[in-house]
Amino acid sequence: MSPLVSPAAGEAEFAHWTDDRQDGFVLGMLLECDDDFVSGSVLCDKLDVPRAELLKRLDSLRARGYVIQASGGRGYRLAGMPAGLSEREIAPLLGTAEIGRTIRHYAELASTNDEAHRLAELGARHGEVVVAELQTQGRGRRGRPWLAPPGKSIALSVVLRPSIAAARAPEITLAAAVAVCEAARELGAPTARIKWPNDVECGGRKLSGILTELRAEGDRIRHVVVGIGLNCGLLPEDFPEDLFDQATSLRIEKGEEVPRALACARLLEALDEWLALHEVEGFAPVRDRWRQLSSTLGRRVRITLEPGLLEGDAVDLADDGALLVRTPDEALTRVMAGDVTHCKVL
Ligand code: BTN
Repeated sequence: MSPLVSPAAGEAEFAHWTDDRQDGFVLGMLLECDDDFVSGSVLCDKLDVPRAELLKRLDSLRARGYVIQASGGRGYRLAGMPAGLSEREIAPLLGTAEIGRTIRHYAELASTNDEAHRLAELGARHGEVVVAELQTQGRGRRGRPWLAPPGKSIALSVVLRPSIAAARAPEITLAAAVAVCEAARELGAPTARIKWPNDVECGGRKLSGILTELRAEGDRIRHVVVGIGLNCGLLPEDFPEDLFDQATSLRIEKGEEVPRALACARLLEALDEWLALHEVEGFAPVRDRWRQLSSTLGRRVRITLEPGLLEGDAVDLADDGALLVRTPDEALTRVMAGDVTHCKVL
């Protein structure tokens, strides 16, 4: 998805844009060219501005921490981005309708999910995002701690106000998994797949975890918080010894650094897209894509339930998000919550 709107603008219109928006547009053009140079005259033509105006914008971006190489014959190339995750760093990369219209960035929080709930209770709008550099009490599914080193990971939560009944909340969890998996693939992890319900992994190693929490009155959703933890710049030695062969990162999968602000922007764009599709068309397209991206379907699985253990073959995702498991007695069991371990491929 293109991060930025086309200016379709003459010089006069471009001149009326805010500096941030102009910077964002130039940045978008540099990003579109990936690692290639884009010539100054092409940039000037597209923006319909004189060279002096382009140079102003490039200087402004450099002052904000973007590394822009200039080569006499070839033009300009984006060689680095600022390391931070504030709204100022994410917003210019972002082309969403609703998710990330407001981004609140904190150096430290107990948990971004807690802060997102607090803001939601105070009236935060659908799509408001909370990002923290460090979480002191980050939590995962089933009460487990979520630990992530600052500067190398992404911890964010999104406030959602979906217009569905509370009983359909699992659909949001699965839509978020599809979005994170698609974003991970786009960001350089092409083997990313979804382990039911919403772990995103590459070759059995966890890349991202999602914690969806619901506040409802009866069947009326007050709000949902989707919390996403993504391993971004970690190297194998950054993981604790017991996770060494169970976890991975974008850095490891791609073989090179992925700027965190870019990863955040792509995550939020994918969420925007899939949640909007879910809102309009319901669960069917989400379910179809989840099935395609699943690493669980078609495997023998062992599922830790509360209480108990279930073993069988994961055969499908039901139309309410349950995992359908065929047990050795040929019964089809619906699992709504549990911890899956993958065994052999069927
Ligand atoms: C899991 O795989 O168990 C889910 C992990 C979810 C972690 C994220 S990090 C951002 C948000 N804040 C939290 O406290 N947890 C989620």
